[in-house]
Amino acid sequence: MADRMPALIAGAIAAQQRAYAPYSKFRVGAIICAGDAEFVGVNVENASYGLCICAERNAVGAAVIAGHREIDCCVVATDASPPSSPCGMCRQVLLEFARDPKTFIVTAVNSAGERRDWRLIDLIPDGFSGRELPTT
Ligand code: THU
Repeated sequence: MADRMPALIAGAIAAQQRAYAPYSKFRVGAIICAGDAEFVGVNVENASYGLCICAERNAVGAAVIAGHREIDCCVVATDASPPSSPCGMCRQVLLEFARDPKTFIVTAVNSAGERRDWRLIDLIPDGFSGRELPTT
């Protein structure tokens, strides 16, 4: 994984250019890893602000559309300093598909070279896994 990180970070930063963020001006690029496969997402905003979709969730959607339901890491690029972490909704969506939240790494970067890393389990401890739901 460590050897892939420079390319993943560069990819997330490059993806920021494709963000559709005319309202917030906050461009976000994300890459989801599913094994060796990688999926890009950007934030896509809407004039009806509540319909804005985050980069991380669009990247998860791309992975699922391609048939990947077990994901291993997320790299998210913004212009924030320090680099900003995924919002609560995105943390929950990452949890839904994380192969293992204890080893799933979320990395936040910016183009100034700053970087922060977390385990998903630490970003959403005691999260709602779905195992709480009735089986019948
Ligand atoms: N945004 C993301 O894409 N990811 C996050 O984790 C936080 C926020 C987007 C949503 C909206 O388009 C803009 O950033 C400002 O909130």
